[in-house]
Amino acid sequence: MAEREKMLEVDHIRVEFGKKRHPFVAVDDVSFAIYKGETFGLVGESGSGKTTIGRAIIRANPLAAGEIRLDGQRISGRLTPAEDRQVTRDVQMIFQDPMDSLNERAKVGYIVAEGLYAPGRHYTEEQRREMVNKALSDVGLLPEFASRFPHEFSGGQRQRIGIARALILDPKFIVADEPISALDVSIRAQVLNLLARLQKERGLTYLFIAHDLSVVRFICDRIAVIHKGRIVELAESEQLFAHPLHPYTKALLSAIPQPDPIAERNKKLLVYDPACHHYEVDKPQWTEVEPGHFILANAPELDVYRRELQR
Ligand SMILES: Nc1ncnc2c1ncn2[C@@H]1O[C@H](COP(=O)(O)OP(=O)(O)OP(=O)(O)O)[C@@H](O)[C@H]1O
Ligand SMILES: [Mg+2]
Repeated sequence: MAEREKMLEVDHIRVEFGKKRHPFVAVDDVSFAIYKGETFGLVGESGSGKTTIGRAIIRANPLAAGEIRLDGQRISGRLTPAEDRQVTRDVQMIFQDPMDSLNERAKVGYIVAEGLYAPGRHYTEEQRREMVNKALSDVGLLPEFASRFPHEFSGGQRQRIGIARALILDPKFIVADEPISALDVSIRAQVLNLLARLQKERGLTYLFIAHDLSVVRFICDRIAVIHKGRIVELAESEQLFAHPLHPYTKALLSAIPQPDPIAERNKKLLVYDPACHHYEVDKPQWTEVEPGHFILANAPELDVYRRELQR
C-alpha cells in the first residue's frame, strides 16, 4: 500500500490541570497520526480525556509535554501571529451540545460569521453575508435563518449551525466532539450523512470523538480507545472489532447491544479491572503488535496478545 500522507500528528502529548506542583494529568503520553481524508475515532468513557485531546488540538489546552503537527508543521506551543491565523483557519471544532455551544443572544448570521471578524481578516459586509449564506446552504439551512436566534431552531438544526460556523473559514481538519450524542436518535443519521458528504466534497479530515464503539464502527476508518488519559489500543475499525486485544477494548465491545435478542440475552458483559495488568515491575509501552494495530502493553502481555492474533 502506498504511504499515506499524514494530516495531523499527535506526538507524546501530556495535558495537566490544576497546581503545577501537584497537577492532575488528564492526558498522558498520547501519540497517534491521522491520515488525510480519514475519519479517525477516539472512544472512551466519560472523563477519559477525549475532549481534553480535542481542545489541545484546537490549542485551547496547552501541552505540558509533546507536540502536535498539522501537515508537518508544529501547531502547539508558541506560534507567530501569521501561523496562528492559519491554524485557526485550518483546524475547527464541532461540539457535543449545540444548545451550550451557541451564543444564545447572537443571531445565527453572527454566530456563523464570527471567525471572519478575527484580527487580520478583512472582509466587507457584503463578502461576509455571501459567505454566511453559502455556509448555511452547504449544511442544508436557508439563508433567511441568518437573522434568527438559536433558540428558534431544533437540536438538529442547531448542530447544522455549529457545523456551518466551523466550515466558514474552509478548514482542513475538524474535531467533531460527540456531534450527535445530544441529538434525537431520528436525526442522528442526517447529521452523520451531512458530515460524510462535506468530507467527500471538501476532502476534510475528521477526529470523531464518541463514548461508545457502536457509533464509530461504521463511520471511522481507524479507532483509538482511550482509558484514563492513555490510549490503550488503536487499529483499523474492522480489525478492532474482529480482533480486540486490550481487556478495556473487550469490555467496551461487550457493552454494545446485540441486534439478535437471543445473543443479547446470553451475552457476557466484561468488566475491565486495571489491576489485571501488573505494571509494578514491567512498564507498558505503546507497541505495534501487527501492522497498523497498536497496543499499550508490557512484554509478557505482548506475548499473550501475539499468540492471540495467531490463533
Ligand atoms: N479545565 C479543566 N480543569 C480541570 N480539570 C479538567 C479540565 N478539563 C478537563 N478536566 C478533567 O480532565 C479529565 C478528562 O476530561 P475530558 O473532558 O477530556 O473527558 P471526556 O473523555 O471528554 O469525557 P466526556 O465523555 O464526559 O465528555 C476529567 O477528569 C476532567 O474532570
Ligand atoms: Mg468530552
